[in-house]
Amino acid sequence: MKRYFVIGNPIDHSLSPKLQNWWLKENNIDATYDKIKLEEHEIKNFIQDIKEQKIAGCNVTVPFKKKIIPFLDKLSQEAEQTQSVNTITFDSGELVGHNTDISGFDTAIKKLNFKTKGKKVLILGAGGVVPSIIFALKNMRVQEIIITNRTREKAENLKALFNNIKILEWGDLTDFHMVINATSLGLNNETIDLDFSSLEHDKLFYDVIYNPQETRFLKMGKQLGYKTENGKTMFVYQALEAFKLWHNIEPKVNTDTYKLLDND
Ligand code: ATR
Repeated sequence: MKRYFVIGNPIDHSLSPKLQNWWLKENNIDATYDKIKLEEHEIKNFIQDIKEQKIAGCNVTVPFKKKIIPFLDKLSQEAEQTQSVNTITFDSGELVGHNTDISGFDTAIKKLNFKTKGKKVLILGAGGVVPSIIFALKNMRVQEIIITNRTREKAENLKALFNNIKILEWGDLTDFHMVINATSLGLNNETIDLDFSSLEHDKLFYDVIYNPQETRFLKMGKQLGYKTENGKTMFVYQALEAFKLWHNIEPKVNTDTYKLLDND
C-alpha cells in the first residue's frame, strides 16, 4: 500500500490527512496519508525513504517549505521562483518539488469573483506562504503589492525573489483594495493592531487562516462592511493539486468537502 505524509513542525493542527484520506477512499485508491512531526535533522532520512519508494510522496508545511529544497533533485518553475515547496513527487527516479499553494490561492480568489487586475494589495506578514501569494498576485496582474512585516528584514528579503514590491513599516497603513493576513495572528484569537476604520470604498479582507473560521481580523473587516474570506478554499485547492500530482485524478470538491473540515 502506498504511503503519503504531510511533514512539518508543529503538525498537530494539520487537516491534510482528513481531506486526503477522504479523497483516497472516494476514489478507491489503496493508499494512506498521515501527518508526521519532523525535526530538521530528520528530513534527510525521510527524503531518502521517498527516493527508495518506501514512501510515495509528501506535503511539506511550516517551517520546511524552503529548508526541504537542498534535498530535492528538481523543482517546478513555481517552486523555483518562490523558493517554496509544499508537495513532493517521485518521477522517473527524481525527487521533484512542487508548489500548489499558488494555484490554491489563485483558485480561491477567482471563486470570489474579485477583480484583481490593476488593484492595490496589502500583505500583512512575510512568512512561508507569502512568496506563493505574491507569485499568484503577479499572475493576476495586480497593480501594486505592498508588504508589511514585524521583522522588516524578512519583508526586504522578498525583494530578492520579486521585483516591484513595496515595503511598509509594521504598524503603518496605506490604502488598498485587498488586504491579506498572512501572519499567524488570529490563530489564537489575537488582534492585529491596525486601524482600518477610516478606509473607504469596496475592499476584500482575506485571511490565510481557516481555523478559526473567522479571525478577529475578518470580524473587523465584516463589521466595517467589507467582503471577507478565510483560507479554507485555498487549503482545499492546494490539496487538490497535490492529489492530482500523485494520483492523476481530480478529486471532487463539494459542500461535503468543506463540511468535513468544519467538523474539527
Ligand atoms: P515563518 O516566519 O517561520 O515562515 P509563518 O507562520 O509562515 O512562519 O509566518 C509567521 C508570520 O506571522 C511572520 O510574518 C511573523 O512576523 P515575523 O517575521 O516578524 O516573525 C508574523 N507574526 C507572528 N507573530 C506576530 C506578532 N506577534 N506580531 C506581528 N507579526 C507576527
